[in-house]
Amino acid sequence: MGLDSLDRAVTALRSGQLVVFPTETVYGLGANALSAQAVARIYDAKGRPADNPVIVHVATIADARALCRHWPDTAERLAQRFWPGPLSLVLPRARHVPDIVTGGLDTVALRIPDHPIALEFLRRSGLPVAAPSANRSGRPSPTRVEHARDDLGERVAVYVDGGPCAVGLESTVVDLTGAPRILRQGGVPRADLEAVVGSLAAAPDTKRPLAPGMKYRHYAPQVPVVVVDRVDGDVRSEMIARFGRPCFVVGLENALDEKDMVRVAARSDADVWAREIFGLLRDLEKRFDAIVVERVDEGGRGAAVMERLLKAARA
Ligand code: TXA
Ligand code: MG
Repeated sequence: MGLDSLDRAVTALRSGQLVVFPTETVYGLGANALSAQAVARIYDAKGRPADNPVIVHVATIADARALCRHWPDTAERLAQRFWPGPLSLVLPRARHVPDIVTGGLDTVALRIPDHPIALEFLRRSGLPVAAPSANRSGRPSPTRVEHARDDLGERVAVYVDGGPCAVGLESTVVDLTGAPRILRQGGVPRADLEAVVGSLAAAPDTKRPLAPGMKYRHYAPQVPVVVVDRVDGDVRSEMIARFGRPCFVVGLENALDEKDMVRVAARSDADVWAREIFGLLRDLEKRFDAIVVERVDEGGRGAAVMERLLKAARA
């Protein structure tokens, strides 16, 4: 990391400009969360619909509490256990949080990211930072600074490079305004949350979007994505007949050995799939006519990986 680029990032943030910065989940496109004008630039740069609220990043639990009207005991327990980390908590917003941050909702999503550069950026700036993933709306989320640069180019004042993201998919979003429930699956698996708060309200039914952002086209590379149970010889021939030159993204268990196959990890090794999947989609879209991916096991982060893949496939 350049300390130098961090200084420039803080200066840019304070003057209402956009900064791309690393977190452990994906790169964020940050703006001063207390400035409606600065946050408007995020929507503009991403091409993001105005009713889709953004997550506010803070350095400490005290900073998070200052942005909400009510801090329930479940928030305290989840924050103590998972922050800094890939969990966003939705709480009743304080009055000084601008409407544009919350998409007009009366709630705000908050998180402390688990990345030394992100934390240093937040501490030095002394501001809460509104930041969606740093991709153009609908594209796969950026897990390397180049991905963000490819999508956003000159729209951003400063890019802070923190290397590849360790988690690789976005935070889990949990609504705490009523009985705790998951709005978006992500870096913290359901079972880990339930170990702290007891059982969570039902799994999100993809037919009715819970987080406003879940209803939009998402994670889509420029070529079609198809999710299959297993890639065997028949599936491979069928996909080649259908697409011309597809790439096959498979588990280590797969016995086929062809040049058009990429082996990620065992299908049960969800953390590796989570870390690699967005980068693979961005890399393979440049070189193939379609991306055919094997289903992974849903334990741990596997459920969130599958949710992203199925969305990319529907787009
Ligand atoms: O890991 C992450 O969460 C990354 C990094 C940069 O922190 N950020 C991220 O932001 O994924 P974004 O904007 O791509 O996704 C935020 C999700 C959207 O689905 C949005 O609708 C939901 O969180 N969300 C934000 N504020 C909300 C609120 N007040 N109520 C319900 N959902 C909210
Ligand atoms: Mg996003």
